Order: sequence, then structure tokens, then C-alpha cells
Amino acid sequence: MTEHVLTELHDHTLTVRLNRPDRKNALTHEMYTALGDAMEQAEQNDQVRCVLFCGNEDCFTAGNDLGEFARGLPGAFRETPVGRFLFLLASATKPVLAAVNGPAVGIGTTMLLHCDMVVAGNNTRFLMPFTNLGLSPEGGSSLLLPDWLGRVRAAELLMLGDAFTAEEAKAMGLINRICPPEDTENQARVLCDRLSAQPPAAIRATKEMLNRATRDSLKETMLAEGERFAERLQSDEAAEAFAAFREKRKPDFSRFS
Ligand code: COA
Repeated sequence: MTEHVLTELHDHTLTVRLNRPDRKNALTHEMYTALGDAMEQAEQNDQVRCVLFCGNEDCFTAGNDLGEFARGLPGAFRETPVGRFLFLLASATKPVLAAVNGPAVGIGTTMLLHCDMVVAGNNTRFLMPFTNLGLSPEGGSSLLLPDWLGRVRAAELLMLGDAFTAEEAKAMGLINRICPPEDTENQARVLCDRLSAQPPAAIRATKEMLNRATRDSLKETMLAEGERFAERLQSDEAAEAFAAFREKRKPDFSRFS
């Protein structure tokens, strides 16, 4: 149990709220455990027809807690809280939606690739700064992004790690709707209510078919990404990036070969 992830079931929608505002909703092992538990609850509870992830009007999430990153992964990727959460998310049988605002960093963007619909506030900044941190892609992004956007656009996003806006995300087909930050959750809830009113088995069958082509390769990729990511967390490049974040300075990668 953590107060940093709040869940609430209302009208068949399980709302899962990231709630660590003083750290920009940066995700800890404890929070990933709660997120994984929420996904299991959603699968098991017949009352749940939809899952909605949200943060607050200023921030979805700053991604993984960088302090915890610096200590490495606690065990083999698949068994870690983040690995468990990502696999549960990727294999969810019910619709998963997200309402995002402000920074959606790292896994805050890659987890959206597993959502069925995404509503973003016009203040959203998507960002996958893996290489900037000496790391490599996670969350299936190295498979899904080239598949959906084309190889060169995926390479630009994943290698340069530049932020992109809600407008750009919509143009790339990564999100459904853009609205003022104060409307994001309501607009996502309208979609959840509409989905919950649909025949549930037909929705599950549709989701299964949408995921079918990438299901097996996605699992394989996520495992490979997780192993490589764990190695990168122990690298000198990552150590320099984490130290730079702590010291509020730019990282210097010039000495690495
Ligand atoms: N892990 C741990 N702490 C984090 C964090 C993270 N991922 N992101 C932000 N925080 C902390 C900051 O250190 C700061 O703490 P302080 O008040 O003790 O200095 C606090 O949260 C507020 O963050 P701040 O940077 O002041 O907010 P901002 O609005 O100026 O910027 C971000 C927001 C998300 C753009 C910026 O915090 C950021 O780039 N964070 C790191 C994101 C990241 O690299 N994540 C890993 C992805 S793989």
C-alpha cells in the first residue's frame, strides 16, 4: 500500500492516479507494485470494464525515480515491480486509457503505447530521455515505435530524446484527443463510460485482435529491453547522467568511447 498511487472504482472504471506531486509523480518500486496490483484487480473484478491512468493537471509523471535508478534494478527485470507492471499492462484484456498532462517522461510515455486511448492536455510534454541518461529503450518502445511511426522517426525520438508536444503526438497517432488540462480527465472519463457501455466480450475480443500481431514479439522485446536496460543502469554513462541530475548540471559524456 502506498499513498502515492490512489485507486477508485466508479461506474465500472478503475481510476489509477499517480499521486506523488512533490516529486512530479516520479515512480518508485512501491508505486510500480501498486500499479501492478491495480492491473491484477482490474482483471479479476467483473465490475471493472475500463482502467484509467491519470496524474494531476500539472504532471502525469517524471518517469522512474532517478534515485532508485541509480541503485539499479532489484533483481531480474521480469520479477521487478516495474517488469511485473509492464507485463501486466501489455497483457491487459480490458481497455486501458490514460489522461495525461504536463511531463510524461520515460515510462510515462512508453506506458501510453499500451493504452487503448489517450487524452492529453495541451500542456503535455512527452519525452523518452533514455539515451540522455545513458540508458536504452524500455516498455516495448523499440518495437512499437518503429512499427507505428517508421524506423527513422522512432530512431530520432529514442536516440535524441527530445520532448514533443501533444500536437506532435497527435500527428504521430500516439494520442486521440487534446484539450485544456482541466478537461483531460473528464474527456477520458467520457470515453471510459462509452467503452463500459459497449458489450464487454466484444471489446475484449477487439483488444485481443488489435494486439495479436505484436503479442509474442512484444513480450520477447520487452524482456530483451529489460535485460539491456538493467545493464545500462550499471554503466558509467548512466552514473554520470544520474550524478548530473543530482548536482543540477549538464552531463558530460565526452570521456566515454
Ligand atoms: N526522480 C526523482 N526525483 C525527481 C524526478 C525523478 N524522475 N523528477 C523530478 N524529481 C524531483 C526533482 O529533483 C525536484 O526535487 P527538489 O524539489 O528536491 O529539487 C522535484 O521533483 C521537482 O522537480 P523539478 O525538476 O523542480 O520540476 P520541473 O517542473 O522543473 O521539471 C521535469 C519537471 C519532469 C521536466 C524534471 O523534473 C525532469 O526532467 N525530471 C527527470 C525526468 C527523468 O529523467 N526521468 C527518468 C526517465 S527514464
